[in-house]
Amino acid sequence: ENEWYNQCLPRTPATIRPTSTTGGVGTATDATFQNPIKPSQGPDPFMVYDNGYYYLMTTTGSDVQISRGTSMTALKAATPKLVWSDKTPNRCCSVWAPEVHKISGKWWLYYSAGLAGNWNHENQWVHVLEGGSSPWDTYTYRGRLEPTNAPDAWAIDGSILTVNGALYLVFAGVSPAGLQSLFIAPMSNAYTVGERSLLSEPTDSWERQGFPVNEGPAPLYKGGVTYLAFSASSCRTAGYSLGLLKYNGGTVTSSSSWTKSGPHFTSANGHYGPGHNAFFTSPNGSIYNVYHATAKTTGACDGSRYTMVQPLTFQSDGVTPNFGVPRPLSDNIPEPQ
Ligand SMILES: *[C@@H]1O[C@H](CO)[C@@H](O)[C@H](O)[C@H]1NC(C)=O
Repeated sequence: ENEWYNQCLPRTPATIRPTSTTGGVGTATDATFQNPIKPSQGPDPFMVYDNGYYYLMTTTGSDVQISRGTSMTALKAATPKLVWSDKTPNRCCSVWAPEVHKISGKWWLYYSAGLAGNWNHENQWVHVLEGGSSPWDTYTYRGRLEPTNAPDAWAIDGSILTVNGALYLVFAGVSPAGLQSLFIAPMSNAYTVGERSLLSEPTDSWERQGFPVNEGPAPLYKGGVTYLAFSASSCRTAGYSLGLLKYNGGTVTSSSSWTKSGPHFTSANGHYGPGHNAFFTSPNGSIYNVYHATAKTTGACDGSRYTMVQPLTFQSDGVTPNFGVPRPLSDNIPEPQ
């Protein structure tokens, strides 16, 4: 009996702070910050820096919201802006994992959504909104991303991978073996995908805690090396964690061009099931890991998950990431510069 379909379902609706259609901008200038950045309703975080602001998005379950601030401390105090909600039946609901990506000078917002109360393997897809020159601009619906060889297949957690200037959609889907897995599909533009190919299945024991899952792909680029971090195992367990695919050259859409390793980032310091991460780069070029975790020792797939940010470090080769462990809430972390 498959149960992977609700692995990342936030079971309670969003909004820890009032949400407006304009949003309040945080401008705190403290030297350090403390986690969490969003104390609840913070799953599946995505963050990007653009033109003076850090932009944060998390899964609300019902709509797309963005917060922005000039620092991590500022983000904590910012009022989210509601940028998208939609009553169209086939994309009304189960709104998950929003991300914004700049492609050819314009921001595009990718998110997962599907039918009301029916987010199983047949009824959830990746969609894209067309934005403007800033992530804060208004968005209009552009379309559903439909791989040519599987246009109606269940798909969630879409992200954008760039290799040698070529665009790819990376996302989670269901493999022929029935496992929630990672897929990749070339893109001819921001809203058109070609054939999907299977990139990674949850085959190792650390990817099968509670239930076999690969999801939440997150591209990472360092010193000419391309990686794809991803989340493994069931969010209903403390074994939810981050794994890594490293691109070795060759056909990008072939799984044999990638080497899997993990787990790299696991429960610690009172944070359980750390995962569904993203990476962002600060103005001075430092890379940060933004991820969610829960204080529930059993793991959780609900709104108890909070958003955490910490610097990513690298081994002495300068390219191999050291994720370290989820840092204590009491840590004073230098603000990104
Ligand atoms: C960038 O800023 C961070 C946070 O303050 C600091 O730790 C790091 O050393 C800085 N990097 C460079 C290259 O200046």
